[in-house]
Amino acid sequence: MKIVTLLNEKGGVGKTTLATHIAAGLAVKGLRVVLVDADPQGHATVAMGLPKEPGLYDLLVRDAAFKNVLRFIQPKQYQVPDQAVTGQLFIVPSNVETRNIANSISDSFAVSERFNELEGSVDIVIFDTSPTPSLLHGSIYLATDALIYPTTCEFLSFDGLVESIKHRQAADGHRAQWNLSNIEVLGIVPTMYRTNTLEHSENLNQLRQQFGALVWDPIPQRTIWAEAAAIRRPVFSFAPESKAAGDAWQLVQHVQEALAGVSQ
Ligand SMILES: Nc1ncnc2c1ncn2[C@@H]1O[C@H](COP(=O)(O)OP(=O)(O)OP(=O)(O)O)[C@@H](O)[C@H]1O
Ligand SMILES: [Mg+2]
Repeated sequence: MKIVTLLNEKGGVGKTTLATHIAAGLAVKGLRVVLVDADPQGHATVAMGLPKEPGLYDLLVRDAAFKNVLRFIQPKQYQVPDQAVTGQLFIVPSNVETRNIANSISDSFAVSERFNELEGSVDIVIFDTSPTPSLLHGSIYLATDALIYPTTCEFLSFDGLVESIKHRQAADGHRAQWNLSNIEVLGIVPTMYRTNTLEHSENLNQLRQQFGALVWDPIPQRTIWAEAAAIRRPVFSFAPESKAAGDAWQLVQHVQEALAGVSQ
């Protein structure tokens, strides 16, 4: 089992969009996936067509059993029409109570300890995080094997990225004290990329100069992503023939390939 976290301390850069598409895409491809909504906004929960509820709070603070907090996502919610889903997708939902988790857990290994219980029954756990750093992020850093940083090609997103990298480095220092290896950075994913603006292409070049091959192919801005979100379906389910669906599948494949190189 691997734990992957989507993170950027800037809001609205595509964390939830990527987390939900990677989770659903990997389930379509046959993996047993648990998506964890670790944002009080509960948008990953809503994106999966479910009501917000305090799943993560119950798990971490009220010590609830996984069987009582995991919600099964029906394949019809995310499947490619007329194609059978071979994996499984569950979500640990969230609501506004998630913001109280940081004040209510004293053990920074709370996330790690609870999610270790899934070892053997699940292939991949994907955390969608909130843009505001908190002690919950600290606990997620101790549990996670790998990070993906979505970012738009704009100045403030880069600022969020720089802050996120600083916090990861601090977390790696903390992990070293417990003989845990550094968190693997799978990639930086440029999102909502506008191919026809100089600003975006110049900023993408800057990102590539700094981070090289860690920068994945940009995902172009297309209206269909928001249209699919509005009816709570991934783009490959809503519009399987669209260019956005192709972009989403390329992302899912890139995650699979990058994860193959991550040791447990
Ligand atoms: N490639 C894209 N083209 C157009 N719109 C997109 C694209 N990717 C994401 N969006 C839209 O951008 C908005 C913000 O995305 P999202 O909610 O995933 O960001 P976020 O980083 O999770 O935000 P927050 O920090 O508030 O949690 C959403 O309305 C989403 O549908
Ligand atoms: Mg989000």
